[in-house]
Formats: sequence, C-alpha cells, structure tokens
Amino acid sequence: MGRKSCHKKYSVFLKEVMGSSNDVQALILGILIGFSSFIQCTSTLWDTNALLLVNASQGSTKKMPENLFGVSFEEINNAGAGGLWAELVSNRGFEAGGLHTPSMIEPWSIIGDYSLVRVVTDFSSCFKRNPVALRMEVLCDSNACPAGGVGVYNPGYWGMNIEQGKTYKLVLYIRSLNSINVTVSLTNSTGGQTLATANIIATDVSNWTKVEIALEAKATNYNSRLELKTNRKGIIWFDQVSLMPLDTYKGHGFRNDLFKMVADLKPGFIRFPGGSYAEGKSLINAYWWKDTMGPWEERPGHMNDVWAYWTDDGLGYFEFLQLAEDLDASPIWVFNSGFSQEQAVNPSNIKPLVQDALDGIEFARGDPNSTWGSLRADMGHPEPFNLNHVAIGNQDCWRGDYHANYLKFYAAIKKAYPDINVISNCDGSNTKLDHPAELYDYHLYVNAKTMFSMAHKFDLTSRIGPKAFESEYAVTWDDGRLGNLLAALAEAGFLMGIEKNCDVVDMASNAPLFLNANTPSYKGFRPDAIVFDSYQTYGTPSYWMQQFFSMSNGATLLDSTLQTSSSDSLMASAIWFQNPADQQNYLRVKVVNYGSNIVNLKITFEGLDPGLIDYSKSSKTVLSSTNVKDENSFQNPTKVSPVKSLLKKSKNDIGVTLSPNSLSSFDLLILSQNIAEINTKNDMSYSSSI
Ligand SMILES: *[C@@H]1O[C@H](CO)[C@@H](O)[C@H](O)[C@H]1NC(C)=O
Ligand SMILES: *[C@@H]1O[C@H](CO)[C@@H](O)[C@H](O)[C@H]1NC(C)=O
Ligand SMILES: *[C@@H]1O[C@H](CO)[C@@H](O)[C@H](O)[C@H]1NC(C)=O
Ligand SMILES: *[C@@H]1O[C@H](CO)[C@@H](O)[C@H](O)[C@H]1NC(C)=O
Ligand SMILES: *[C@@H]1O[C@H](CO)[C@@H](O)[C@H](O)[C@H]1NC(C)=O
Repeated sequence: MGRKSCHKKYSVFLKEVMGSSNDVQALILGILIGFSSFIQCTSTLWDTNALLLVNASQGSTKKMPENLFGVSFEEINNAGAGGLWAELVSNRGFEAGGLHTPSMIEPWSIIGDYSLVRVVTDFSSCFKRNPVALRMEVLCDSNACPAGGVGVYNPGYWGMNIEQGKTYKLVLYIRSLNSINVTVSLTNSTGGQTLATANIIATDVSNWTKVEIALEAKATNYNSRLELKTNRKGIIWFDQVSLMPLDTYKGHGFRNDLFKMVADLKPGFIRFPGGSYAEGKSLINAYWWKDTMGPWEERPGHMNDVWAYWTDDGLGYFEFLQLAEDLDASPIWVFNSGFSQEQAVNPSNIKPLVQDALDGIEFARGDPNSTWGSLRADMGHPEPFNLNHVAIGNQDCWRGDYHANYLKFYAAIKKAYPDINVISNCDGSNTKLDHPAELYDYHLYVNAKTMFSMAHKFDLTSRIGPKAFESEYAVTWDDGRLGNLLAALAEAGFLMGIEKNCDVVDMASNAPLFLNANTPSYKGFRPDAIVFDSYQTYGTPSYWMQQFFSMSNGATLLDSTLQTSSSDSLMASAIWFQNPADQQNYLRVKVVNYGSNIVNLKITFEGLDPGLIDYSKSSKTVLSSTNVKDENSFQNPTKVSPVKSLLKKSKNDIGVTLSPNSLSSFDLLILSQNIAEINTKNDMSYSSSI
C-alpha cells in the first residue's frame, strides 16, 4: 500500500452524507388500463388457437433455485468506469498514458495557450503503485495571464453530470515550491458558465498535500468539466484528482439511477468482474484483485486492454462485494485461471495464482483476524461477505492447460473452503464433465430464431451431475442491433425453457448488463440491457423482459403443457410465488407469442379451487410493440415496455388473446396462505380456467 509522504493538511468543510438511498421507489411498470375482454368474433383466418394446461397439484411442482436469475457485470462499455461507479474524473491519477514519461494525459487538456502553460507527466507522485503525476508550469503571472488564469481541465467520461444543489467531493494531491492560489471550478463544457468554485490558497505545500473540498453546484449541467487554474507563475504538481457526488447509493459510490435499474431486476446473484475483462488480452492487464485494494488513491489502476479503456479500479474487488451485498444478491467472483487471451501460465507455474484466489476468498469471508480478512475489516467491513460461488476463469475450457490448472485451483479451494461452489468453464450440458465441479458455465450469443429454439436446450441434459450456470446469453448480430422487441421475445422463450429445467440450470444472466451510449461502437458490445449517458438511462426491451422473471427466484414451478399447432412460436411457464410487496400469493402464467399471428389461448388449471382466485386483484402485463424491430431510446425510453392492466373474469370459460409478437404475464391473486392449502383440496380434482 506504500505511500511515500503524502500529508493530509487541508480540509474544507467536508460533510459525509450517508444513507441517502432511493432504492425503494419501484419503477412504474406501465399505466393501468381497462381490460378489453376477448371477443370470439375478432378471430380471423390467421388466428391460432392454443390450450395451456397448468397443473397446480402437489407432486407436479418444483421448488426453483433461490438465485435462478441474476446479473452479469463486466467492465465493458464503461459499465463501471464512467458508469455505475460515480467517479466523475477520467484518468484521475494521470496513469492512463502508461508507465513512462512523458505520457498522454487524455482526456485532460490545457486551459490557455501553450506559451503560457505547459504540462508534462513525471514520476514525482508520492504513491508507489501509481508513480505518475502531472507537472504544470505556468509561465505568466497575474498581469500577463488571461482573466481567470490558465491551467488544466478534465471533461470526465463524455461530460460530468453536475446537478444544482448537490454537493461534490473534490480530493486532490498538490505540491509546489511556491505559495499557491489555485481556483478549482465546475463549469460547462467550454468553461464560460461556472457551477461551483473554490480557491486553494496555501503558503507551504512543498511536500505533497491532500486537499479536500466540498463543491455545491448552483446550477445543473450534464456536460460539465472540472477546471484547475491559477494566475501565479510557477510549477505545481497534481496527482490523484477525484470528484465524487456525495449522493451515491448508501454513500457507497454507486450512481443511484444505475443502481436502481439493476436493483429493479431483483437479481439473485451478481457475477463480476467479467467476462473477458477477467482474462485480459495480456496477463499484465488481467483483473488482479489485490491491485484494486486499499485507499483509492493508492490503487494503480489498469488498462482494460480487451475493451480498450483505462480503469482506475475505483470499483475494485471490495466495491464489487459491497455492490452484491447492497443488491442483496449472491456475489459470484470470476478469477483468472492462468489465461489471458494471448498468454498462458502453465500448470507448473500456477501456484501463485492459486494462492491469489485463496487470498481473495479469505478477503471476502475470512475472519477479521486473518491476513486478508483484516484488510476487509480495515476497509470498513468486518463482517464477512456472503461469497459462496467462484468461477475458475472465463471461456477458457478450450485452452490446452485449462484442465490441469483447473484441478489445482479446485483442489486447493475445496480443501480450504469445502462449501464453496466452483464453476467450471467446460460445457456439461451434453456430456459429463471429466473433472469435479458444482456448476459449469455456458454462454450463448445467437440470432433470435436460434435463441427461441434454445428453450429446449436443457430438456435432454442429464439430471445428475453439475448444474448449468447460463452466465451470458443474448440475441446478437442482425436481430439484436441495439436491443429490440424480437430479441427480448426470443430470450423470454429461452428463459421459460430455463424455468422448466431449473432442476439442471441453477443460475442464468443476460449480458452485457450496461452500455454507456458514448462508448465508441468499435470498442463496445451491443446490445445491452441498460443504456445510459452522464445523466439519463433506459432499459432495452430485453431489460423489461427480464423483469417478467424477477419473481421466479425461490418460487414454485408448476407443470404446464401447451397444446397448439404453433409450438415453434409459443412458449409458456407457470409459477407460484409470494410477492414481498404485499405478502400475497400469486400464480403467474407467462406466455410468449413469438409468431406474427394472434393467438387465442385458453388456460385451464388442475388442482386449483377456482373460488380461491381473486380476479379483482389479478392483473395482466404485456410487453409488445407495433413493430418487432422496435427499440427504446433516450428520446422514447419506454416505447417497448410492460403495460399492466386489471384482469377481469366475466364467465367460466374465458380465453385470452395474445397479440402477435408479445410477452404476457397473467398474475392471479390466490386467496390462500400457501400452496399446500390449495393442494389439500386437490382430492376434489378441481379444474378451472380463465
Ligand atoms: C397433475 O399432477 C398430478 C400430481 O402429479 C398428477 O397425478 C396428474 O395426472 C396431473 N395431471 C395431468 C393432466 O397431467
Ligand atoms: C486567489 O485567486 C482568486 C482568483 O484569481 C482571487 O480572486 C483571490 O483574490 C486570490 N486570493 C489570494 C489570497 O490571492
Ligand atoms: C458555456 O457558458 C457560456 C456562458 O454562459 C456560454 O457562452 C457558452 O456558450 C456555454 N457553452 C456551451 C457549450 O453551452
Ligand atoms: C516535508 O517532509 C519532510 C520529510 O517527511 C519533513 O521533514 C518536513 O518537515 C516536511 N515539511 C513540511 C513543510 O511539512
Ligand atoms: C481477534 O484477535 C483479538 C486479539 O488477539 C481477540 O481478542 C479476538 O477475540 C479475535 N477475534 C476473533 C474473531 O478471533
């Protein structure tokens, strides 16, 4: 953690604001509109008829895994740096240009003419692990400098979102042999409008000095920049310049709006930090958790060479574990198994990496007195994190030495932590794995048609042996684009297949989770579930589709059978769940109509007393749009989003119409405390339908 001589000396009216959460406000799913009951005479020649038999009888139900659906977080598309992690300064430590000087300081830039201000990087930093600092030489003095002075500015990640009335914590390290008067300001993108400002005035900063300033914005601008200016001749060094809003989720550093988007999916788990990000293109740029530890200003940061951007690792291993805890999601840590995309560590040299993984587990859940557990306690979390799953590598099964490396990791981890679930990169869905594992990772990026057909992918998988972790799935290529309705419907069909096979699939997550819309398309990966820029965000149709599955974790699966001539375009599933919001029990039937015909669907129930259904509190939610290629956007963020309406029963034998290209959820409130109560009435063999 070596610091040389960084003195904390200067601290201006800083208030920590903790616990300013707004996570509980549920997003409104859609507007409530009246139910338009199905009228038989609307049937046309192209209508399809289908019957769905749902069997609620005891013996036909299956308990679903607690963490069946979750999220997969990868540092891709500026998901963390320039995204969920609320740090506003990009390249805050001037390390992004590399470990040589002088280096590029992008996106920092100078204010004033080159004849008046010169900047260069050097190795004068007081931090051992990130030695590069910025040396700024000002050649003018107060009468020769332009009004307002000269200096440097940082535009953040495509502009900083500065909001009126909010407070931003600026921390920087400064050094000069002369007395200083540095003006720090938040301004609009060209500097003319000042949103907040303060002066750093000091007579002796000949040693590195930490400065903390709280800046309160007097106006809003979502494309702002941070300026550091002076009109005194001389040399000033800057290092580790950070600007964070005080208002982050629980004060934990997560951008509130993006945290809420993830929380609304009610993820059972969060997989991190990748993906290929965990591997790196070269091993030196892989994700090494120990380099992301300790005080933020001491972290070296690293080049995310797979996705071609620098990350200062503000969102480090500790913060990922904290994120999982804040989401009430099970953390799933993917560590490097000795492979980057271009390099490999052979089994005879793998020992240090095995130790690194063991240390990482100890950090997460070891006693506060243990070597690494004590670091966690020092970082403010004496209680262990709930780490029960680790993945040995990402997509590395094809690598020659994967098996040999894997076995060394597996043996060491199981010896120290017998209860940890270990995830292999090798596909066990068709053939038995030749090595021990609790789970195997399976990734699926295909076109829509293939995705829909993959609903049956796990039907024939062996019922014994390791379970599947479907950690990355998405409709991509021409059908995906930026994320359209067609992709979401195909994925919905696939997920219903996973629900039905939840005895062999333990967890599933869509990927990637996030896209900063400003990430150049040649660097990023599209489509994604959540799109954002500096100040706004929206969910793609796939994001909204995932919300249909957010009650499935820990629910009860009911046997359901579709009878239709269009089995290649219809898929359905039925679950029984208790809604934590009202503590009531619901039977949820989900049906996706992947085809372009209207479907007249009759749903019948076996083993369910029809008198227990309270139709006045039952609802239907539909995800559809006029065109199957429709996408959401900042201009029209909910063009394709769920619309909820009341479900009214008029007569005994009512059917429902499924519009072409739609996903529907029918939530029936059941007036019963538990399913067993319903099932006791089963002897009478109730059959009912809606
Ligand atoms: C419904 O489930 C019960 C219990 O498993 C079973 O006896 C019954 O045959 C099932 N009904 C149908 C139509 O499959
Ligand atoms: C510091 O600089 C600001 C901006 O140029 C100026 O208004 C202020 O008077 C200066 N303060 C001192 C103590 O020099
Ligand atoms: C910044 O603010 C100044 C002063 O209001 C204005 O003249 C300038 O156009 C603004 N820049 C941008 C990019 O809006
Ligand atoms: C600067 O640091 C040195 C070495 O730690 C120390 O001797 C000296 O007193 C410091 N000077 C100031 C002004 O703090
Ligand atoms: C940690 O060590 C301290 C001091 O040796 C001891 O008092 C404490 O009981 C230990 N705690 C645990 C959980 O082992």
